[in-house]
Amino acid sequence: MSASVGGSAVEVFCNRQAILAEGPFYDGITNELIWVDILNNTVNFTNVDSKHTRSISLPENVGSAIPMEGSASQMVALVGRKVCIVDRQTGETQHQLALADQDYPKNRMNDGKCDARGRLWCGTMGYEKSPGEPVSSEGSLYCYDGVTHMLTRKVTDVCVSNGMAWSPGNTKMYYIDSGPRKLWSFDFDDASGCLTNRQVLVDFHDKGVGIPDGMCTDSEGRLWVAGFFGAAVSCWDPATGELLAKIEFPARRTTSCCFGGPDFGWMFVTTARVGAGEEELSEYPLSGAVFLVREVPFGAKGVPPSPFKWAVKSMV
Ligand code: BGC
Ligand code: CA
Repeated sequence: MSASVGGSAVEVFCNRQAILAEGPFYDGITNELIWVDILNNTVNFTNVDSKHTRSISLPENVGSAIPMEGSASQMVALVGRKVCIVDRQTGETQHQLALADQDYPKNRMNDGKCDARGRLWCGTMGYEKSPGEPVSSEGSLYCYDGVTHMLTRKVTDVCVSNGMAWSPGNTKMYYIDSGPRKLWSFDFDDASGCLTNRQVLVDFHDKGVGIPDGMCTDSEGRLWVAGFFGAAVSCWDPATGELLAKIEFPARRTTSCCFGGPDFGWMFVTTARVGAGEEELSEYPLSGAVFLVREVPFGAKGVPPSPFKWAVKSMV
């Protein structure tokens, strides 16, 4: 299927009717798109040429799964409230590295991403009455450093921890809490991972592009944000917070986006079926598919995403 929507040709890349497809990550080494179906407890590997998908099952909801530097067989995954090393072929948990939100056992990990130094940023969320309707702000944003093995709470009072991204040069970090519908910017100290000077860059109320969810930056620093209920990925100017472009999709619950493919010039976009009633599913039968945009506005390109850096703990 290929359709021209909102000026950009959008095609179905992979349709497994995911409940909550999320966390797309283009692995340039294997030419696969890695993506999770959070509520189906699976990590999926879709070959970008053949479109063949292989899935592995994990024991709990999986917020995100990211390759590990220097290892073809292991990856890091956010499983329930845990950070785990899992076998990329079998999904078997090999090591539990950290447990988040010990004070909120009903929370779960949501989106996660590694910064340029390979530290894993991951956030939690509490219970939602229905998708997009969080009932509390008991989540947090954490950073797990796989070299020092420290899990640090970085932001508290988070409703639904979601997209994260860094500016080219890593002087800014961007972060979305879907509950208050805000995209925040922080000054980012790359060496220490310290966040300061928190500011609202975009408030998504009344922007007509949905609830902000997953996010990525392109090589020029523009921010691309998937909008849950928005059937769109919107593009924002990091300096002014202005809307620059919008790509529309034939699925309302647009959850996340990443660049990948040849020269990182394509965009992959995940969507969800969770919470959609019969009417929405008949209007948007492709809900839950992963889409591909080969011609991204402005000819935008991404940069290779960072893998997780892990140093095995010595047993002394
Ligand atoms: C979460 C969903 C939530 C959605 C919109 C996703 O990242 O996993 O549970 O409904 O964001 O807030
Ligand atoms: Ca998300």
